[in-house]
Amino acid sequence: MSAVVSTGSTSGVRWVRWPAAHTLADGTESLPADAARIGYGADYNPEQWPEEVWADDMRLMREAGVNIVSVGIFSWALLQPTPDTWDFGWLDRAIDLLHANGIAVDLATATASPPPWLTELHPEVLPVNRLGETIWPGGRQQWRPTSPAFRRYALALVEKMAERYAQHPALSMWHISNELGCHNVYDYSDDAARAFRTWLEARYGTLTELNRAWGTAFWSQNYSSWSQILPPRLAATHPNPTQQLDFARFSSDALKDYLVAEREILRRATPEVPITTNFMVMGETRGMDYADWAAEVDLVSNDHYLLVADPAAFEELSFSANLTGQIAGRAPWFLMEHSTSAVNWQPVNQAKTPGQLRRDSLTHLAHGADAICFFQWRQSLAGAEKFHSAMLPHAGENSSVFRSVARFGGELARLAEVAGSRTKQARIGILFDWDSWWASELDSHPTELLRYKAEAMAWYTAALANGLQADIVPARSVLAGPGLADYDLVIAPMLYVVPDELADALAGYARAGGHLVVGVFSGIADADDHIHPGGYPGAFRDLLGVRAEEFGGLLAGQTVALSGDLPVGSTGSLLTHDVSVAADVDVLARFDDGPFPGVPAITGRTAGAGRASFVATVPDRAALVALVGRFATDAGIHSPLPEEVHGTVQLALRQSDTREYLFYINHSALAVTVPLGAADGDLTAVDLGGSTLAADSLTLPATGVAVLSRARTET
Ligand code: GAL
Repeated sequence: MSAVVSTGSTSGVRWVRWPAAHTLADGTESLPADAARIGYGADYNPEQWPEEVWADDMRLMREAGVNIVSVGIFSWALLQPTPDTWDFGWLDRAIDLLHANGIAVDLATATASPPPWLTELHPEVLPVNRLGETIWPGGRQQWRPTSPAFRRYALALVEKMAERYAQHPALSMWHISNELGCHNVYDYSDDAARAFRTWLEARYGTLTELNRAWGTAFWSQNYSSWSQILPPRLAATHPNPTQQLDFARFSSDALKDYLVAEREILRRATPEVPITTNFMVMGETRGMDYADWAAEVDLVSNDHYLLVADPAAFEELSFSANLTGQIAGRAPWFLMEHSTSAVNWQPVNQAKTPGQLRRDSLTHLAHGADAICFFQWRQSLAGAEKFHSAMLPHAGENSSVFRSVARFGGELARLAEVAGSRTKQARIGILFDWDSWWASELDSHPTELLRYKAEAMAWYTAALANGLQADIVPARSVLAGPGLADYDLVIAPMLYVVPDELADALAGYARAGGHLVVGVFSGIADADDHIHPGGYPGAFRDLLGVRAEEFGGLLAGQTVALSGDLPVGSTGSLLTHDVSVAADVDVLARFDDGPFPGVPAITGRTAGAGRASFVATVPDRAALVALVGRFATDAGIHSPLPEEVHGTVQLALRQSDTREYLFYINHSALAVTVPLGAADGDLTAVDLGGSTLAADSLTLPATGVAVLSRARTET
């Protein structure tokens, strides 16, 4: 069974195949394979160290409670030093040693970064950027996703790995490549051009259809032969938008196709070993449509790093973990990488406090992670990542980071009972859609300032600020998944690309009794990025009972005053619409000034048994918090948290068949007391980590997280 968002599977996921119990090097017995546990570990790169260091690694891993490591990710050049020679000896010894110490192996296929000999022999493997410049070796991941030569060599390596390690008892999971697309998702080479044409032929069938979809009557772009079609390389001016959107779709698909090629080899060799590849649901990483990719792996794993300059960095972590959980169909997923402390790749890299390490990790766990791993085990002394933190820092075991790591390993052991539980479905869903992410931010739009992810985040943080839970729901699952029927409130932030089927499904959701809230710059275009004509937002105009003829873009820093049922002084920014409304539409707020003074800014209307609302600008935070609060109350959704901790404490829930796990997460740098009432039930402490649980309150330290549980009363 795969972790599949596209079929909406929530009925079980394949998980790490933990090794059978065996006698360890020190004579003790390892855990049985079916013992409940949370995975804990890191990328382990023993090849960076003399073998004498490995024994120390084992001692300290055991001290820290490490039970799984990812091995071999960047080892190709050492495993295959020349095209015809192989050296698996060191990897055999490292894996044997791990096994003898009871540490499971998530074995990489080692294809993430090609060795220098390969790109010397086949320079045509190297990616090309949109300016036609070659991306040279010297860093990593210098390969074209569509390169036949790369695929030949990489898949031969996968065969070798599968053959050699298929029977190794430590082999618990396969790790395909590494962060596919991190640096090479957009390749504009001739290989890419060829593969793009094939992809387009499969999508459109005929050139006539492609010309229609791409709107090539515009600017003399009509194609008379497939060979004329290119990736959107540097152009004299704005490249064709549908060509750009299709190239984004193609690029995600090309890497997915490569993922499948590796997976097929592994499945043949070891059908019983689960396969993953680490996604990057984080920040602005958008090249790969992971809601689509999830169906191709046995279990979803993710890498996440906080962006320290982002004032909402922690909310972004919560958002990304939430989305990852939804992509995984609310089944457990694997946090493959995050950091114990600073990273090395941001303009300024800040150390984490021990409390932050724990809070970040437990926030992932709260959103469904059943493994918490880091990049990397031992901090490198050389290379580009020598300033990146690790579980075992330069300072050694006598360090605050290692002490936190070991302490947290102990805590995870106490949290073992949470493993296997699923995140509880929220009553609010916030739609998230890669097509809209890609298309809404293309050039030549009413404004360059609107950002898709920021809009989705704004609605999510407004829900958190009301003490509410919200699921980040891939829009794909509306059509090919469980649908939205279980949500009482669905928000569509900046859902720019809306094919007719999606518009119908969302209208159907509202008419059946839900409340659909449509955000600014939504419903504008169809799947070909052609405008839905007749007035904006075309795809939702009839449902909402609104019609706009113009966009009023606002300059950076410019705001419009909003009056109505909103906090005094509310404003909108970035974009406005000149909305006119049908007779049965309620106007919740109007623009007081700006491009369209007096015009409705926020509307609502009865739609069948439900409701449909439109928000025709980007409300400021206070206004958005008030709006979400109101929409939730109208839908009968009430925060389980007392008001005084709204926006400070987040409550996230997981459920097993019999228990409910409550994660109280303190977002703030101050201690907070959460009053508990009769409605909270009979709460038991699972892991308090410095919090105090009293009969009628829970006190969390700064950045503290408490995990409580109670008997599950409803399904
Ligand atoms: C990830 C990558 C790791 C390491 C890490 C540093 O992108 O998978 O290999 O580079 O970032 O933060």
